[in-house]
Amino acid sequence: MFNNTPFVFSFALLLSFPLLFLFAPRFFPPKHVQISLPDELDDLALFRRATLATLHINTDNHHSRLGTTTKSSSLPKPKIAFLFLTNSDLQFAPLWELFFANHSTLYNIYIHADPSVKISPPGGVFQGHFISSKKTQRGSPTLISAARRLLATALLDDPLNSYFAVISQHCIPLHSFDFMYNSLFTKPVTESTRPNSVSTQSLIYRSFIEILSDEPQLWGRYNARGENVMLPEVPFHRFRVGSQFFILNREHALLVIKDRRLWRKFRLPCLNIHSCYPEEHYFPTLLSMEDPEGSTHYTLTRVNWTGSTGGHPHTYQSVEVSPELIRKLRVSNSTYSFMFARKFSPDCLKTLLHLAEKVIFRD
Ligand SMILES: *[C@@H]1O[C@H](CO)[C@@H](O)[C@H](O)[C@H]1NC(C)=O
Ligand SMILES: *[C@@H]1O[C@H](CO)[C@@H](O)[C@H](O)[C@H]1NC(C)=O
Ligand SMILES: *[C@@H]1O[C@H](CO)[C@@H](O)[C@H](O)[C@H]1NC(C)=O
Repeated sequence: MFNNTPFVFSFALLLSFPLLFLFAPRFFPPKHVQISLPDELDDLALFRRATLATLHINTDNHHSRLGTTTKSSSLPKPKIAFLFLTNSDLQFAPLWELFFANHSTLYNIYIHADPSVKISPPGGVFQGHFISSKKTQRGSPTLISAARRLLATALLDDPLNSYFAVISQHCIPLHSFDFMYNSLFTKPVTESTRPNSVSTQSLIYRSFIEILSDEPQLWGRYNARGENVMLPEVPFHRFRVGSQFFILNREHALLVIKDRRLWRKFRLPCLNIHSCYPEEHYFPTLLSMEDPEGSTHYTLTRVNWTGSTGGHPHTYQSVEVSPELIRKLRVSNSTYSFMFARKFSPDCLKTLLHLAEKVIFRD
């Protein structure tokens, strides 16, 4: 009767695959936060709401692209959404407070703070801007989810939000608000005009996101969830890396929250924790696949990887902070100056405040 043994065997093997995935977490206890189904559904509902609201605006009201394709002075000015992603106190809140001072019509703040950590409420311009947040952990896709939650909330909240900048508690501004705002909005990229981009908006106001393909650890990072599991959605030659500190335009923010295809792969837990930084791959890979010409391929957030340890960049201490350091950190290889820098230890605050008026916000 069981003369068809190879068939039965392969059938059993086939059946056991889903079981393997079900029980694998028990055999290999997860070191990292898993994204639960209720959390996933919560996010999906938020992303859907934000997508629908945005589509509604686009068809109803041509002003949704205001500031980006129109120059009329009667229209309200576009805003920058600052997306603070943190799992500790906003240590530089007093510095950001000075940065934002007197510009309340030109920005919005959204804060995603890990709810499992007790954070002292920063007050001031930050008060009341905490969004509905979930636990985040390094080396897991939870940081992607947090960034997408911030993007969706900001898209929903204000149709004037036109650029979306991810900032961490270790970031500092390197210029005044006016300097940054004018660089982003009144200096449309003239480096090159390419005809094949998705739309004019992303051509004129490109997203500032680092997109790299020639990093030595890329193969290990690609296989961190298991060999070839990224296929067929993400073949290795399309896999990218870049800083998770980016500034996206509205169109790209929408593209990111609408994505289901790549997220299905990037949400898989990492088997190799040591080469797992999903948030450094998801955004650059997605943008490079969907609208490569719409991005600058570089970030405006300076980071010093010289002498990095355990995947953390150099963290500046108070004694290193000086006017020269600020000036040095601004210098970039692109036509834009760096706008933000990381990482700075909390003890730098006093020195930075001291430099604020005379150096940082001078321009
Ligand atoms: C904001 O504006 C007020 C009134 O014009 C001024 O006194 C104050 O110095 C300004 N604050 C900053 C940080 O520029
Ligand atoms: C980068 O960090 C190293 C220490 O790891 C330091 O010597 C160097 O001066 C830093 N570079 C800049 C531009 O701050
Ligand atoms: C600029 O490019 C040079 C050469 O590729 C590189 O060594 C340097 O680190 C770059 N500077 C910055 C600020 O990225």
